Amino acid sequence: MAFSSSPIVTVKNASVFQEQNTVLNDISFTIDKGEFVYLIGRTGSGKSSLLKTIYADLPLRMGHMEVAGYSIENIKRKDIPFLRRKLGIVFQDFQLFYDRTVAENLFFVMKATGWTDKGKMKNRLADVLMKVGLGSVGNKMPHQLSGGEQQRIVIARALLNEPLILVADEPTGNLDPEVSDGIYRLFQEINNSGTSILMATHNHRMLKEHPGRVLKCEKGKVLDSRIDIFDYRTEY
Ligand SMILES: Nc1ncnc2c1ncn2[C@@H]1O[C@H](COP(=O)(O)OP(=O)(O)OP(=O)(O)O)[C@@H](O)[C@H]1O
Ligand SMILES: [Mg+2]
Repeated sequence: MAFSSSPIVTVKNASVFQEQNTVLNDISFTIDKGEFVYLIGRTGSGKSSLLKTIYADLPLRMGHMEVAGYSIENIKRKDIPFLRRKLGIVFQDFQLFYDRTVAENLFFVMKATGWTDKGKMKNRLADVLMKVGLGSVGNKMPHQLSGGEQQRIVIARALLNEPLILVADEPTGNLDPEVSDGIYRLFQEINNSGTSILMATHNHRMLKEHPGRVLKCEKGKVLDSRIDIFDYRTEY
């Protein structure tokens, strides 16, 4: 099978652990190229743990996961940076360096992921800042930007290596509704250009206004709105 037609994420009979505790047990789902998927569930239900396992921050001890062509259960430590180039990660707490400019933040990631050509790096920096609607902030310090703008920088950082999928953990968690809408629209634009999105969220309003495929962590399982019948508007 050609790589382009296989799913970007395949999870098969996988269990997700935090220390000795099973957080999710024997879960299976796939995410195809270009899909936009919400990940919901009550606090402590395992959303972040699942995402961490997908981006190889938590070891996969049981079952199978394949992400962007990498087998997560067999991945070697030295290959994790390569996986992370194919998979952009967006956190709720921005994890920017606050003593460096926006440009320096993004150059740091480019250097760490193998970029060396200064000209190409500058072009890519301009491209991704333009994409998130912040073409002119390269020389600013993160604290000179609003929360919504900082989140856009984090998204720009995640886009640097043209990932196949963006994995976002409550990207609008700390933002007010209007700013959240802007961030949602940005994810939508990125998705329209072919990048898959897997977004953990507690934002009921976003789901109601922009319905889509939903995975729900519940009682150690992952329900899939494609297969299972559940009401995503119920409390979570
Ligand atoms: N670093 C950790 N060490 C040990 N246990 C943890 C750790 N992080 C999370 N857990 C536990 O794993 C379970 C799942 O937590 P997780 O953070 O994945 O939930 P979540 O769905 O992301 O919740 P939230 O909506 O609050 O972000 C919880 O019982 C939590 O207490
Ligand atoms: Mg979480």
